[in-house]
Amino acid sequence: MKLDKKDILKALQTISVPGEGQNMVESGAVKNIQTFGDEVVVDISIKNPSLQAKKKTEVSILQAIHREVYEKAKITVNLKVDAPTTPTANEIKGKPIPGINNIIAVASGKGGVGKSTVTANLAATLAKMGFNVGILDADIYGPSIPIMFDVASKKPLAVEVEGKSKMAPIENYGVKILSIGFFTQPNQAVIWRGPMAAKALNQMIFDAHWGELDFLLIDLPPGTGDIHLSIMQALPVTGAIVVSTPQEIALADARKGVAMFQQEAINVPVLGIVENMAYFTPAELPENKYYIFGKDGAKNLAEDMNVPFLGALPLVQSIREAGDVGRPAALQTSTPLESSFEEITRNSVQELVRRNKSMPPTEAIKITTMAGCSAVKKK
Ligand SMILES: Nc1ncnc2c1ncn2[C@@H]1O[C@H](COP(=O)(O)OP(=O)(O)OP(=O)(O)O)[C@@H](O)[C@H]1O
Ligand SMILES: [Mg+2]
Repeated sequence: MKLDKKDILKALQTISVPGEGQNMVESGAVKNIQTFGDEVVVDISIKNPSLQAKKKTEVSILQAIHREVYEKAKITVNLKVDAPTTPTANEIKGKPIPGINNIIAVASGKGGVGKSTVTANLAATLAKMGFNVGILDADIYGPSIPIMFDVASKKPLAVEVEGKSKMAPIENYGVKILSIGFFTQPNQAVIWRGPMAAKALNQMIFDAHWGELDFLLIDLPPGTGDIHLSIMQALPVTGAIVVSTPQEIALADARKGVAMFQQEAINVPVLGIVENMAYFTPAELPENKYYIFGKDGAKNLAEDMNVPFLGALPLVQSIREAGDVGRPAALQTSTPLESSFEEITRNSVQELVRRNKSMPPTEAIKITTMAGCSAVKKK
């Protein structure tokens, strides 16, 4: 039996690559076909790196060729994962305010699920990828970004920019940082009303010398209350990322978080959900996974609410230690964690590109302050 390339190609046209829509010939996934008698070698390149997608693609190819061409064909599938390239700075233009291309809010609903950890590592990864990144730590209850970046003892200085005095963010690991924490005493409880916090954050955006930023990430305080409403209305947020653990109680709050962004008064697109503490992996048994908080909860929530799932992070001691030491875990090169953070970062940027292509920039609502009392006015 001599196999014909054309028949193989036809058989492959009956298959689509998981997550890529068109058939695998049209989508360009088929790179090469070679036939030798009853043997065929197919080179495939797919974008989805999951084991499941690879397996499924391979099985479909075997089945299609056996079914459509020759049931005894000896098939070798060389499958390569062609990870999506990170978009360039030019492709990510959202331009909410001059100089700052995209503002991404990181929220959760429930406290302590890892918003600040995810924000810090996203920022560190984006900086590593070559983007200009800033973090605005908006957590008025417990600002943790300065600690996670080892800059807690620093104070931002004023700089003159075109005749105006502006606040200069503190920089570490290529990430520029401003935090409410720089302006409060470490042990001082901060009781700020929403509009006051929003006003302070507004100043940290508009009266700060960020320079050109591709991304400004905002680490929000936990919850979905008035303070969030004020903050979110005051800032032209391009998109939001919601962090949750797979635990029922965290998911219920994450659901509220997603709903908060989607409500009419805020209307910020949700770029997706990150599942943190998805499973515990002990350092000495890296292959073992313990689903302490339940399995796939945040992933299922994303599906249920029809928002993208951006990826999962394990519960590992090194993430906590990195946070305490002040050097984000994503900066430890050639570790599985680095790859997980890279995947989440790439997915987030891709969702952002999609959002910016299909929607106009989010509008902020102007905050005006009158003699100590604050009011929120629509532009
Ligand atoms: N995947 C993880 N593995 C291990 N420890 C983690 C992980 N994610 C977060 N932590 C740790 O859990 C604690 C809470 O995380 P983090 O401060 O990021 O949460 P948060 O949602 O920002 O909390 P808050 O609501 O107080 O702002 C921190 O000590 C952090 O180091
Ligand atoms: Mg936090």
